[in-house]
Amino acid sequence: MASRGQFSSRTGFILAAAGSAVGLGNIWGFPTNAAENGGGAFVLMYFILAFCLAYPVLMAELIIGRHAQANMVTALGSLSNSRFSKTIGHLSGIFGVIAASLILSFYSIVAGWMIAYMIEPLLSSLGLTETANWLITSGTTRNILFCAIFMAVTTLLISLGVEQGIERWSTRLMPTLLAIMLGLIVYVLLQPGAMEGLRLFLVPDFSQITQPTLILSALGQAFFSLSLGVGTMLIYGSYMQKTENLPKTGAIVTLVDTSIAFLAGLLILPAMFVARRNGIDIHSADGSLIAGPDLIFQVLPSLFDSMGEIGLLVGFMFFSLMVIAALTSSISMLEVPVAFTIEKTGFGRKPLSLAVSLIIFLVSLVIITNFDRLFGLVISLTTEYMQPLLGLMLCIFAGWVWHRDKLLSELKQGHETIEQSLFWKIWPSYVRFVCPLLIIAIFAQPLFTSG
Ligand code: PHE
Repeated sequence: MASRGQFSSRTGFILAAAGSAVGLGNIWGFPTNAAENGGGAFVLMYFILAFCLAYPVLMAELIIGRHAQANMVTALGSLSNSRFSKTIGHLSGIFGVIAASLILSFYSIVAGWMIAYMIEPLLSSLGLTETANWLITSGTTRNILFCAIFMAVTTLLISLGVEQGIERWSTRLMPTLLAIMLGLIVYVLLQPGAMEGLRLFLVPDFSQITQPTLILSALGQAFFSLSLGVGTMLIYGSYMQKTENLPKTGAIVTLVDTSIAFLAGLLILPAMFVARRNGIDIHSADGSLIAGPDLIFQVLPSLFDSMGEIGLLVGFMFFSLMVIAALTSSISMLEVPVAFTIEKTGFGRKPLSLAVSLIIFLVSLVIITNFDRLFGLVISLTTEYMQPLLGLMLCIFAGWVWHRDKLLSELKQGHETIEQSLFWKIWPSYVRFVCPLLIIAIFAQPLFTSG
């Protein structure tokens, strides 16, 4: 235990946790969800839910993690002495480790595509058209190769440890991500047609705000975006120093995550309408806006093509942004099973990072070679079912199983006067009653929408 890693500073923790949170979910999921669900109305609902639901659950993960100084399995098992809750805690932790690993197994496939699309403009500009075309043509060999490359980089960073790997690289990559994003936003907003997309994103269609699909999509989006339920925030919390003020730090992470999702909306939706101005179809056959993989891998690349020479640079920057966002999230996913196996077996970080990654890569291989059957299934299993259900368990552990006095004494470290704060007046009962009920609503979402 003595050699557990630790973030060296609050900024380091914030950038790592924000790096985990900011991912494909923000840059791709959020803007397209907004476009499909009443624009500004969705944005407003998302912000409300991110702070009223996701933030309290994030706090549960961070507090439990920092208190237990351990992975999710050990942490949840240590909160009470009753044998029953220990067993449920261990089981929930194991499901968390499995869920994080499964999320990584599909995330790394998508991130691999992003690398291929990032390299394509470089090869095109060198005149290597044939190889460039191969990169952007869907195929098993390409998928396996780039998934392997992405996993190799993720494994390398995780094998370097908390401070040298996670913290150091999040601290470098997050400011880079922000700079690329701001540059792209300014460029896209100056193009003809952009304002129409901006309007769609920002002007609320309030007639949709009470629709259950809008509320539930915003809930699910907030949950995935803050990396909740699967123990990523719990393990990052366990590396946080005891002198940190937890409620404040958690609030900053939530704010950074929601702000970057908002910025992504300022990029993606205007870009779609610039594409339309350039003659590219941005609607599917049923009249709705293209939102899925076709948006990222067809509409936007066609837009970059239509921009001429500069399009190569814009395309490269855009997909670099995606790769960076995916990488800072994937390292947090891999840390979950790696920390668990290190703490359970006592073996070293390097061999275990490699062994765990190989197993996850094998799962990715199974998904790639059975793509139509498995890809969507794994995504829906993990993000629609496992994440909300595990989030519910975390609230039950923080709100019901864990002794209130112990919780308070953990929070007092780094925040002496917490008892007088608004946070302490609201959060404990909130995480007991309100969060579980709201999460049950997300969990039941497929039941409402499948009919
Ligand atoms: N928050 C990440 C995103 O928005 C996804 C993620 C989910 C990361 C679960 C870690 C754990 O893309």
